[in-house]
Formats: sequence, structure tokens, C-alpha cells
Amino acid sequence: MSENVRDIFREGFDEFARFINPLIAQRARLAGEPIRFVRALDGVLLDAEGQSYEDFHGTQMLGHRNPSVVAALQQFLASDAPNWFPSRVNPWAGRLARRLCERSGYSNVYFGMSGADAVEAALKLSRAATRKPRIIGLEGGYHGCSFGAVSLMHDGPLHDPFAPHLSGAEKIPFGDIDALTRALSERDVCAVVVEPIQGEGGVRALPAPFVEALCALTEQAGALLIADEVQTSLGRSGRFLASERWPRRPDVALIAKTLGGGLMPISAMLCQREVFERAYGQNFFMGEAHNSTFGFNGLSCVAALSTLELLSDELIASVRQRGAAFLDQLTLALAENPLFEEARGSGFMLGIKLRQPTHPWLSFEHFGWPELKDQPSIGPLLCHRLYRRGFFAFVCGHDWSILRLQPRFDIPAERLSEFARACREELDQIGALN
Ligand SMILES: Cc1ncc(COP(=O)(O)O)c(C=O)c1O
Repeated sequence: MSENVRDIFREGFDEFARFINPLIAQRARLAGEPIRFVRALDGVLLDAEGQSYEDFHGTQMLGHRNPSVVAALQQFLASDAPNWFPSRVNPWAGRLARRLCERSGYSNVYFGMSGADAVEAALKLSRAATRKPRIIGLEGGYHGCSFGAVSLMHDGPLHDPFAPHLSGAEKIPFGDIDALTRALSERDVCAVVVEPIQGEGGVRALPAPFVEALCALTEQAGALLIADEVQTSLGRSGRFLASERWPRRPDVALIAKTLGGGLMPISAMLCQREVFERAYGQNFFMGEAHNSTFGFNGLSCVAALSTLELLSDELIASVRQRGAAFLDQLTLALAENPLFEEARGSGFMLGIKLRQPTHPWLSFEHFGWPELKDQPSIGPLLCHRLYRRGFFAFVCGHDWSILRLQPRFDIPAERLSEFARACREELDQIGALN
């Protein structure tokens, strides 16, 4: 390790708290989250004591610092190929867009740097293509933190402080076909934005009858159907796109998270050329009406090309099968604990729904956080105990009674068994206190 890297690890964590956001560091400390990771080895994180952690966050589906993606980036940097093209006609972006279209069945791509970038691009595409004012999202949704995305965010602290929100943006109850029918009845909606499986909303798959209605009604009403696949895509849910088996292909699909192999930030909005033409093909000036300076940089595209190569159909099929087996394993391991409600999800996008214990000692109020008194403590309590067993699991952003499990795709079977065992033992311990 170079002296420069050592110096960063000595002071950088504290500098984050001092110069970026003390609350993030405070929350991580109070929740007992491991913070001081100093190495990424064989896909997992290591702290200074050499303790290893499986990261279940989901941004690292190929494991931390995947060697093939690292090699592709090193090769690019060792060459003299330009990273950025002043004309913006970037050949790396061109090749990546072609590969994405070949893989997904779409015919047009826009690149951003974050999931929220892709959401924003889709909202603007919908307005420009249809010239209609309203945008419909679902309660429980999470689409990122930019203004359009926040306007569709589930009510609460991530949404409320930013009012007034984007005009025309509104939410309907999750899975409510009648509400959807009413919302679309005036034919003044430009887009309906949904996650095929809500991630932060609790690993909740859209019910099949709702998907059927969604596909038919949006088409009838001339509204674009936008599948926010930022969490579900690239094999995470066991398919390249979770929406690929819907009765009709969504007009737009959004991809981000691991597209850059966990090393580079990049996102993509996929649509059909006809929709893009309707939005941006009207006249010469419209061609660049939506843009971002570094959205088409070579390095990110190189990382994404390497990622797509790794994400073979066989690997994605194995995620589908292994995810189903892991789901059964979790259900079997936890079934007898009264704090366990259900395990759900598909592929390696799984959730464990827990029941809040009734003992007052196990409430946030008792732990000295009265402002969190209405939040379930059971998810964070279980996560806290799992950190000590070498698993970095999370709760869903909008529902802390649900653990969100998104392991790397090549996680060994024995690690999954260890997780199921650790989960059962730790939940039993909490249950014994109840
Ligand atoms: C479904 C969904 N959409 C959009 C986003 C926003 O992505 P980003 O944080 O990269 O902006 C997220 C982030 O978790 C997400 O889960």
C-alpha cells in the first residue's frame, strides 16, 4: 500500500464526517456499521483487522474490484485513446449502446452517470414525446434524489422537505388498478413510472394483474410506460431486465447501479428510436436538448462493456436458480421464529420481512432516538448483529422492517448457508429478549 493510500485511510474517514456530512458518519457509527474498510479482495471487503464482509448492498454484483473490469480499465488507461470527444460523438458510447440494444431489444440509448440521471432523462423524454403534463408514480417508489425523481418519491423525509415538487407529478397506491384507470382516464399523462420490484419500498414485486393492466392502459392512453430497473436489471432479479416478460415491452427501461462494474458511474435510458425521434427529432436544435457533459465518457463505457461481457445468459440463469434456492433456504431457516414474517423477491434481489418486537427495550425510543419512535427497530437490530458475523446487510429505505439482500453473483454457496444460519441465530437471540 503506498504512503498516499495509507494517508487516505488514516484521515479520510474522519475528513468525510468533517467536510461532507457528519450525520452519515454518525448514523453509521450508532448503527454499528463497519466503516473502515481498507481492502477489497476476491470480491469482499476487508477491514484493518483482516475481518472480511460480504456486501449485500447490490451495487457490486460482480464483487468489489472485479479483476476483469479492473483489467479493461487499466488497458484503456495504458492506451492513448481519448476518453472524451469534444464533438460528443464518442465511439465507446456508440459500441456500448449497440451492445445494450442487442441484449435488450431496444433501439436507442441515452447515457447518464447515476440512476437519477436516467430517471430525469426518461421524464423529459416523456414530456417532449407526448407534450402531456402529468406523470404518475407509485406509493412506495424510490427513483433517486434529483427533483423529478424526488417528486415521485414515497412520502416522508426523502420527499416532503422539497415541496413544491415537479408540477404534474403524482402518486397512486401500489398495485391499485382502479386508481391507475382513473389516473389515465383523461389521456393527459405523459408517463407512468414503476419499479418492476420496488426495492426501497420493501422488495415488492408488482402483482401480475397490475402489470397486465399497466401495459394495456398506458398504451391506450398514449402514456409512456417507464420501467425503472435501476435495481432490478442486469441480472439482479434473475433476468437481464425484470420487465422482459411483461405482456408489452415498456417504452423505456432504466439501468444503472452495476452497469459500470461497480467501478465507474454510468446509467442508461433505453427506449425505441421512434420515441426518441418523437421527442428530440423535431428539428436541429432538439438533438442536444437533453445532455450532460460527462455522460458519454470513454472510461465508464469501457467498464460497462466489460461488465456486459461478464453478465452472460448462463450467469444470469444461475442467479435465477441460486436466488430461488436461497429464498427457500432462508424461509426454512427462519420459519419458526415469531419475528419472521416472510422471505420474498427473485434472483438475488431478496427481502426478509420481519415483525416488530413488542418489548419496549427494543424500541428506538429506548435506544435514545425518540424522533425514530415510529420506525421499526427490528431491521436495524438484526443488521447490527449481522455486521459482527461478517455480513453487511441493509434495511429498505422506506420500510425498516425489511432486510434487503443483494449478494454478489458469484458468492459461494457456503457463504449463503452461513448467512441463513447467522440470520436464524441472531433473530433467535433478539426473539429471546422479546
Ligand atoms: C429503483 C431506483 N431508481 C433510481 C435510483 C437512483 O439511483 P442513483 O442513486 O444512482 O441516482 C435508485 C437508487 O437506489 C433506485 O433504487
